[in-house]
Amino acid sequence: MNSTSENITFAAIPQHIAIIMDGNGRWAQARGLPRLAGHRAGTENLRRIIEACVEFGVKVLTIYAFSTENWGRPQDEVSGLMNLFDDVFERELAELNRQGARLIHIGRTEGIRPGMLKKIHNGEQTTRDNQRLTLCVAFNYGGRDEIVHAIQRIAQDKIPSEEITDELVSRYMYTAGLPDPDLVIRTSGELRTSNFLIWQAAYAEWVFPETFWPDFGREHLMEAIHEYGRRERRFGLITTQP
Ligand code: FPP
Repeated sequence: MNSTSENITFAAIPQHIAIIMDGNGRWAQARGLPRLAGHRAGTENLRRIIEACVEFGVKVLTIYAFSTENWGRPQDEVSGLMNLFDDVFERELAELNRQGARLIHIGRTEGIRPGMLKKIHNGEQTTRDNQRLTLCVAFNYGGRDEIVHAIQRIAQDKIPSEEITDELVSRYMYTAGLPDPDLVIRTSGELRTSNFLIWQAAYAEWVFPETFWPDFGREHLMEAIHEYGRRERRFGLITTQP
């Protein structure tokens, strides 16, 4: 048994949780609000979930903030989201430091406006020695794009084919040095992987709670971790194998 805080006992705690924060738009629409209000509420919620991850002893939290495909959304939603990210990367830095969280960006840097890129780099620098939690923000991220990017760099580095192993490819991913996700959560009841960590999540356990992301709180996260603890991870083996 793995005990994390005074009153909570989990059968197993995922070292790395990854989340597809889905349902912001529907959360807003259900309240007669513009979609951006949902993204704002989703951003507020992130703070609660970061806090809970720190409390439960999760070491890495990866969030899908903006995919390489999301640029195709209506222009006003994209620019609203960019302004929100711009704001958050600056405003939440002190809070991340207070939580002992280190910020890491994964995704393409090309296409991100220079001012925002600067804020992201500044955030990474400012928090780089924090050790309680690594917050990995997938921004301008696509799983296939990441694999293509890795293959391009492997070719540029002229790595002989016999040296191209699972471990080597992992080292060429944006997530180099991080453990693979143990648990992936997609909120809002959608049952898709949507190009998220398709290399790294090969053996992750997935859960699909119905709750829209802005309402997905500490209790929901606890339930997802309990569900994870009930799963038997076999990594392609069978139960009786050592
Ligand atoms: C998916 O909901 C959500 C997004 C595309 C954006 C998620 C971003 C945040 C919560 C902000 C996080 C901020 C930072 C800086 C990391 P959706 O719009 O697809 O919802 P829908 O499926 O109900 O339309």
